[in-house]
Amino acid sequence: MEPEVRPVAVRGLEDVIAADTRIGYVDGANGKLYYAGYEINDLAKHASYEECVFLLWNDRLPTKKELMDFRAEIIPEMTLPRPLIQWFRRVPRGVHPMVMLRSAISDLALYDKETEDNSLEANRRKAARLVAKVPSVIANFYRIYNGLDLIEPDPKKGIAVNFLRMFTGKEPDKKSREAIELMFVLHADHGFNASTFAARVTASTLADIYAAVTAAIGALKGPLHGGANQRVMEMLEGIGSPDDVEDYINGLLARRERIMGFGHRVYKVEDPRARHLRKYSEDVCGGDVACSRYYAISRRIEQQVKKTKGIYPNVDFYSATVQHALGIPVDYYTTVFAASRIAGWTAHVMEQHADNRLMRPRSQFVGKLPRRFVQMEKRKK
Ligand SMILES: CC(C)(COP(=O)(O)OP(=O)(O)OC[C@H]1O[C@@H](n2cnc3c(N)ncnc32)[C@H](O)[C@@H]1OP(=O)(O)O)[C@@H](O)C(=O)NCCC(=O)NCCS
Repeated sequence: MEPEVRPVAVRGLEDVIAADTRIGYVDGANGKLYYAGYEINDLAKHASYEECVFLLWNDRLPTKKELMDFRAEIIPEMTLPRPLIQWFRRVPRGVHPMVMLRSAISDLALYDKETEDNSLEANRRKAARLVAKVPSVIANFYRIYNGLDLIEPDPKKGIAVNFLRMFTGKEPDKKSREAIELMFVLHADHGFNASTFAARVTASTLADIYAAVTAAIGALKGPLHGGANQRVMEMLEGIGSPDDVEDYINGLLARRERIMGFGHRVYKVEDPRARHLRKYSEDVCGGDVACSRYYAISRRIEQQVKKTKGIYPNVDFYSATVQHALGIPVDYYTTVFAASRIAGWTAHVMEQHADNRLMRPRSQFVGKLPRRFVQMEKRKK
C-alpha cells in the first residue's frame, strides 16, 4: 500500500495563507507594516502603546475619552495575585526569564475566575488583565529575584513607562520614556509570525486565552524568533570594537552560522521597525561609552552583512542596543518583546474564537508503509 500522493509539504509553511485577519498586515515586498490598516510609521510617530492595543482589539482608533477609560481599566490590573509573587521567591537560581514568564502566565489562569469562559466579553476582560500583567510579571519577578523592593504601578502613566520604572526602580527621563513607548508600539503585532500562529492554533481547539498565550511565549523564546534580540547583544559583546566586525562576520558566514537580528521570512527589503529602532538606539545611547560602541559596531555589522549577504536588519537587531541603554539585562530582552506582543496575541485569540474552525493541517508521510508487526522475541538484537 502506498501513502496517498499529495503535493509536497511547504517547508516552514512559507507563503502559506493560514487564516483571514483584520489585525495586522506585513507588506514584505515594500517593507511596510500596518496595524488594522494604519501604517506603523504613523503609529510610531503619533500613537501611544494603549492606542495601538485598543486599535488591534477594536479595529478602530479610540476617542480621547475611550483611551482615558481604557487606561483607567488596565493600569490597576498591573497588580499581581499574591501567590504568584510568593512563587517568584521559590524560582530556582539560574532560570531563564522566558521560562519563568511562560510558567507565570500559565499560573495566572489559576487565579482568574473567567479562565474557562471563551465568550468575546470575557476574553476582552482577560485580554486587559494579560496586557497589564505580562509586563508586571517581568518587572516584579526581576526585582524579587534580585532582592529589590517592588515598585507600584503609577495610575498616571501608561503600561510601557510603568513597566520600565517598575523594572529599573528609577523614574525614566524623557528620552527613555519615548524609547520604551516606541519599543512597545513597534512590537505589538506582526501578522502570522510563529508565536502568534502558535496562539491561534491553540485557540482554535477552543482552549482558553491563557493556554494560547502560554503556547505563544514558548514559541517566542527560540533564537530564530524573539530570542534573537538576546543573541544580538551577546554578539555585540563578543565583537569588542568596530574594527573587528569584518573578520567576525566573515568568520560566522564561513562557518555557515546565522547572523542574529538579520533576515526575515516576509520582508525582502528593510524591516520598517529596524529603521525606527536604529534612530532611537543612537539617540538613547547619548554619552554612554559602552552603548555608543555597541551602536557603532551595529552600524558596521549592518554594512558588512548587506555587502556580503544582501540581507537587512530585523526588529531584533537595534532593539538590543535600545534595551541596553534602558538598563534591561540581556537575558530579559525577549521578555520585553513579550510584554508588548501580548497585545497582538490577545487580539488574535479573540479573532480566532469569534469565528473559529479547528486548525488541523496534515503532513506528508515519507516513512515505510505498511510494516509487518514483529513479536518482541522475534526482533533482531
Ligand atoms: C528569520 C529567519 C529564520 C528567516 O529565515 P528563512 O525565511 O527560513 O530563510 P532561510 O533560512 O531559508 O534563508 C535563506 C537564505 O538567507 C540566508 N540567511 C537568512 N538569514 C540569515 C542570517 N541571519 N544570517 C546568515 N544568513 C542568513 C540563509 O543562509 C539562506 O542563504 P542560502 O540560500 O545562501 O543558504 C532567518 O533570517 C534567520 O535565521 N535570522 C536570524 C535570526 C533572527 O534574527 N530572527 C528574528 C527574526 S524577526
